[in-house]
Parts: sequence; C-alpha cells; structure tokens
Amino acid sequence: MSDTAIPPHASGCPVAHGPLSSERTPTGCPVSERAAGFDPFEDGYQQDPPEYVRWAREKEPIFFSPKLGYWVITRYDDIKAVFRDNITFSPSNALEKITPTGDEANAVLASYGFALNRTLVNEDEPAHMPRRRVLMDPFTPEALKHHEPMVRELARSYVDRFIDDGKADLVDQMLWEIPLTVALHFLGVPEEDMDTLRKYSIAHTVNTWGRPKPEEQVAVAHAVGNFWQYAGKVLEKMRQDPDAPGWMQYGIRKQKLHPEVVTDSYLHSMMMAGIVAAHETTANATANAMKLLLQHPQVWRELCEDPGLIPNAVEECLRHNGSVAAWRRLVTRDTQVGGVDLPAGSRLLIVTSSANHDEAHFSDADLFDIRRDNASDHLTFGYGSHQCMGKNLARMEMQIFLEEFTRRLPHMRLSQQRFSYVPNTSFRGPEHLWVEWDPAANPERSSPKLRDVQVPVRIGEPSRHAIARPVVVERVTPVAEGIVKLRLVSPDGKPLPRWTAGSHIDVECGTPELSRQYSLCGDPDQAGVLEIAVLHEPEGRGGSAWVHAQVKAGDRLRIRGPRNHFRLDESLPKAIFVAGGIGITPVSAMARRAKALGMDYELHYSGRSRRRMAFLDELAALHGERLHVYARDEGRRCDLPALLAEPVAGAQVYACGPLRMLEALEGCCAAWPEGALRVEHFESTLATLDPAREHAFEVELKDSGLVVIVPPEQTLLSALRAANVDVQSDCEEGLCGSCEVRVLSGRVDHRDVVLTRSEREANNKMMACCSRACEGRLVLEL
Ligand code: HEM
Ligand code: FES
Repeated sequence: MSDTAIPPHASGCPVAHGPLSSERTPTGCPVSERAAGFDPFEDGYQQDPPEYVRWAREKEPIFFSPKLGYWVITRYDDIKAVFRDNITFSPSNALEKITPTGDEANAVLASYGFALNRTLVNEDEPAHMPRRRVLMDPFTPEALKHHEPMVRELARSYVDRFIDDGKADLVDQMLWEIPLTVALHFLGVPEEDMDTLRKYSIAHTVNTWGRPKPEEQVAVAHAVGNFWQYAGKVLEKMRQDPDAPGWMQYGIRKQKLHPEVVTDSYLHSMMMAGIVAAHETTANATANAMKLLLQHPQVWRELCEDPGLIPNAVEECLRHNGSVAAWRRLVTRDTQVGGVDLPAGSRLLIVTSSANHDEAHFSDADLFDIRRDNASDHLTFGYGSHQCMGKNLARMEMQIFLEEFTRRLPHMRLSQQRFSYVPNTSFRGPEHLWVEWDPAANPERSSPKLRDVQVPVRIGEPSRHAIARPVVVERVTPVAEGIVKLRLVSPDGKPLPRWTAGSHIDVECGTPELSRQYSLCGDPDQAGVLEIAVLHEPEGRGGSAWVHAQVKAGDRLRIRGPRNHFRLDESLPKAIFVAGGIGITPVSAMARRAKALGMDYELHYSGRSRRRMAFLDELAALHGERLHVYARDEGRRCDLPALLAEPVAGAQVYACGPLRMLEALEGCCAAWPEGALRVEHFESTLATLDPAREHAFEVELKDSGLVVIVPPEQTLLSALRAANVDVQSDCEEGLCGSCEVRVLSGRVDHRDVVLTRSEREANNKMMACCSRACEGRLVLEL
C-alpha cells in the first residue's frame, strides 16, 4: 500500500489522487484512500451528501467506490452530460436494489409473485419515449390546475389540527400524509389503507436504495411483496372503471389505443413505483425545505414578509437540500466522462446533490439564497428525456405548504433535535421535524380571515419577475433639471449585492406590474449601496413620473437585480464611450471602471443643454480631458461619423442613449469589426406578436426527445412551458438574454436585441421569448 500522492496522468487517471489505498478500479487504476472510504450508508452522507463528497467535487470528481461497486460522479457538467445521453448511459438500473438481497429474501419476494419491472424511470429506448409521450398530458401545467384546490384544502385542514398546540412534528402530522393523499388522488387510487401504504413505501425505499441487514431483509421482502400484491388489486379495481379520473386510469385508456406502448407489466409496476415517485420525494422535499428555512431565521422572516418569493425559494430548497440526493445509470458502451474511461457495464452513482453545490455552476454554491437567479438549474428532478414528469405537481404542493406555513405560523421555530434519515443513497429527508411556536401569538387569533387567504401558486418554473428584494431610499438628490438620483441601501444594514459597471436594476414603481429598468450609476467599488438616476419623462409609461412624484428619503422600494447585460470587456486596449442624455448612467459607471483599470478610453456625452445633463462636474473632475461634452443649445454636436470613421484596432464602442442615436451609431460602425459596437437597450422595439403575420413551426428537443408545435399566436417560450420544459426568462421582450436556448439546426428568425450579428449568423443560439423559426423545424438542445 502506498500513501504517496501521485500526479495527474501518472496512473492513467486525469485527476490528482490523494493517498492511495490498496484497491484498484475495474480499469486497473489505483483508488485513492478517500474513494476507498466512500460509504453512502454512513452518517456523514446521510446528514449532508454534498458536503460528504466535497473533496471529490473539488479534487477527484469521478472516482470508483470499491465498497459500492459504482463509479461516483460529482460535478454538474459531468452529471448533465450523463443525463443528456440516455443511450450510452442507460437508466435501466435506476430501481435496482443497490444492495443485493440474500436467497431467503428473494424467495419471499418470489412467493408474492413480485415482478417489479420497467416503468418509465428505468425504461430504455426505444420503448421509453413513446410511452412517456402517450402518458404526459395529465402532467402539463394546464392539466395540473384542477388539483390545486384539493392540495390547498388538505394543507389548511392539517394545519387546523395542530395550530393551537404550540408544537408539531411536521413530518408525522402533515408532510408525510398530504403528498401521499395527493399522489393517490393523482394516480386515481382509493384513499384507504394509508398507514399500511406508508409502511410499504418505506420498505420499498430500503429494498431499493438502502442496505438492510440480512435479518431485516426478510421482513422488508414481506412488506414489499404485500405492496406488490396490493398494487395489483388496486389496478384490477381500476380496470372496472377506466373512465374515473386519475393518471393510472388515463394509462388504462391509452392501453386500449396503444397496447404495445402501455403494457400490463408497465401498469402493474407503475402502480407501485408511482406512489413512491410521487409521495416520498415530495414529502421529503418539503421537510428538507422547512428544516433549511427555519435554520435560517432571517430568510424565513423575509419569506413570511414577501410570499412572492416562495416559488423561487422552493427551487433554492430543492437545489440546496433536495430530496433526491443521487441517481443511477448504467454504461452501455465504452466511453469517457470528464476524461475518465468508463467501460461498458460500469454502474454510475450520479450525485445530483453534489452537482447542485458545484461552484462552477452556482456561484457561492453553499450559500442559501432564495433570490438566486439560476436556482432552478438544479438537477434534483434529473434532466433530459427522463426528467421528472411530476416536477410541477411537486412544485405546486411545496408552494402551497410554504404559503400555508408562512401565513399562519410565521413565528414557528425549529425545536432542539437530532435529525435521522432512512439510510439509503437516494431518497433523503428527516424522519421527524419538530417545530414549536407560541399559539397565543397565532396571527389568525387577531385576524381570523387570515386562515382563508390564498396566494396564487405558479405552476411551472418560477419567473424571475417574482424575485424582488426590499431596499430603503437613503437619499434623493436632484442632479440636473428633471433628473433625480436615488441612493438605495438595504433595510437591515447588510450590504446589497455587489454589481459590475453596466448593470441595471428593475424598480417596482408602486406596483409589481409597473416595473422599470434603471442602470446603476455609482461606484461599483462602493460595496453595499446602489445608485440610480431617473429622468422625468412625462410622455413615458408612468414609472419615472411615479419616482419623481412619490419617492422620498426613508421610503421602502422593491427592486430586482442587479443584472448586467452590458458588460465592459476589461481586457480591451481601448474603449470609446458614447452617451446621450440619461444614457450617461451605465456609461458613467463603465468610464469610472475603465479609469480604475488604467485603460485607454474616451467619453463622449451629448445632451440638449448643460442644465439637463447629469453628473457633469463629477465627470469632469474624474475624467479631465478624456471627457467631451456636447450641449446642443451651445451649438455643439457629437459628429459620430467623424468620430468613428476609422476603426481602432482592438477597441470597442459602448453606447447608451436615445434610439435615434443608437441607430445612427450602427451605421457609423459599419466598417468596424463585428461586435465592436455594444449598446444598452431599455426599450424593446419588438412588436407584440401579431398572429396574422406569423406562421406555426416545430421544435425538436434533442435532450427531452419531444417535438413541440409553436402556433402563430404563441411564443416559443410559452409553448415550451406548456409542454413541461423549463426555460428561464426575465424580460420576455428580447432584451435581457436570460431565455437563451442552444440551437442545433434550423434557421432562426432572430428578433432580440441581445445577440450580435456574428452570433446570429453562427445560428447556434436564440432567445425563446421572441425569436422564431424562419421556416420548417428547429432542433434545440433542451
Ligand atoms: C422521475 C425526482 C416528484 C413522477 C424522476 C427522477 C427524479 C425525480 C430524480 C429521475 C430523473 C431522470 O432520470 O432524469 C423527483 C423529486 C420530486 C418528484 C425530487 C419531488 C420533489 C414526483 C411526483 C410525481 C413524479 C409528484 C408524480 C406525480 C415521476 C415520473 C418519473 C420521475 C413518472 C419518470 C419519468 C421518465 O423516466 O420519463 N423524479 N420527483 N415525481 N418522476 Fe419524479
Ligand atoms: Fe429576456 Fe427573453 S426573457 S430576452
């Protein structure tokens, strides 16, 4: 045995192993001591899987675990690549017993005729996709709407039962039973035998993903066998009444049309596996979410104050502490992942909970941030053609539970306790979750109407529009005629997020519907403070008029962001900044940054008159001769064609101002290299969709295996959402770039203002909120 570290490649491995054990991988490579010690049934993994494999994520992202006989994959990109290719990485082992059982237990299972086989989650192609497509409709956001009142009523009545007690085990008293009831309703199963089912489904988890001791195996086998037989009986009952509501009855009806796609074996196996898929995952996810939120009392308070944050908080909880910690795949041909050779037959444990903490994908990944922009990129629901079909039902349930708790028990706190988990690799949630509160302080004792208030749920992926943060206006300063500067700070004294030059924020001007974008104009190095300047535009849509009429020092505002779609390339040899009127706001921050970097730059600033131009003194002091001011009433105009006549090697032009000026600049920069002109747009020139002038088109989704038709009256974004495909969005007007999707083939009719000409010509990405197909079909990497 050697205890010396070996350098990368010396062993044939692409990673630097730490000290080595005596074990070897099936490919003959040495196994590091940490890899040899990896044991997912240990308390360390059970308590915190991403922490338990941090060493791997950071240093040895793919390793072989001799104890488990699996290759373990820990990084986001590698795991997504595995999910993406369900032919090379077959899901057929997803429901296999991770710990093989002994002869006695196998005999018990056989005595019940146990034959759990392929469902959806463990079915290979070509059988899987046709079945998934046939069975998908009951999961679309539209079809899920009618389950919402039932989930709400359940949540309300369960909280009624314990709200006056001052303490509860949320798992035992609510979170276990409601998702089970919802699962049964969704599937169309009668509600009786809930307690028996509860025992059965735990047994199934231990049987599939756990490590029962030999003496436990027989008892587990009996429970699983009973569960199997029960599932068969229920299915028979359903066949007598196939028109009843429920996903299983839907499957029975589809079987008549497509008997080779929806087989008997599928129906029986799904009857059992479906309950577990829909029940435990959601129960555990909510218990994990409540534990996490109550462990962060400040975050919990913010959520109680602003329930609009709940949909994104649900995603962040699923990311930070999801209920499925790892999933499995089987390698069908010799291949490589992340540079590591994986021979055909290799079994993979893909630790999705570790991917969700990968710094390369989620900045400050361990931070629990319910306003995180890309929280819903988590892999807790898997990805691609097998991605969880029930994700939107689960999201809906979780939103309703959190809404109920934040509204009716905002003073709830976590009791002292040690959390225990059913030892297994995949399904994860505390077995008990004790919370306490003072019933005398229940808000509904003083306002009984609170009990019945409803906040609408959002079915599907959360919109970034909802992720608002409160700020306080510290100062309002007039900085030119018709322009005020607002200095914004956080209400609790903590610094506001850092920002970079060119960023903007969205300000809710009185109501969430009236949200306007304003560039940040202060000093990016001044941490914790945000400054914007707002020009009063009487002809505008009302945002600036509201700011000028209403906002005063001490007021609270709600903002979103900061976000940057107008980044300064800090490696440039030279930058030319062009600002017109209030367009000086982002440009002033960029020029300040260019100066701080010691970059060569010039700043050209035009306006109607000096009286109406903000920051003149400050800019003159900071930039001296680099600043060129053009006040029209002094007869000075910026001669853009002359200024930009000769392209400057390596330079870029950054411009913000009136549309006319930006359009003129396009012409002036025609001789400049592609991408040399960067402009910030705040107004969308996109017309709203006119169905009379649009045509329908098809998109083929490579990763999900679906074909979606986009009718003339719908955007690609909304057609994707209706088909249960998650795509992020923000502005939904082609301005921000957040709905970008990758295009594999087909010609795109680009309508956004985000992509440059060469990016459009490259034809490998598009904005789903506004762009369409020129003709025919597009193939997307989704
Ligand atoms: C598949 C997680 C809730 C039904 C999956 C997969 C995961 C998962 C990891 C495998 C994904 C893959 O292989 O790429 C979760 C989590 C849930 C949840 C974390 C709750 C928070 C539900 C619910 C239902 C459901 C409520 C049903 C009502 C399914 C089905 C599949 C699946 C049918 C198989 C899809 C296929 O292979 O085509 N889920 N699930 N899940 N889930 Fe969920
Ligand atoms: Fe902003 Fe599409 S959502 S560009």
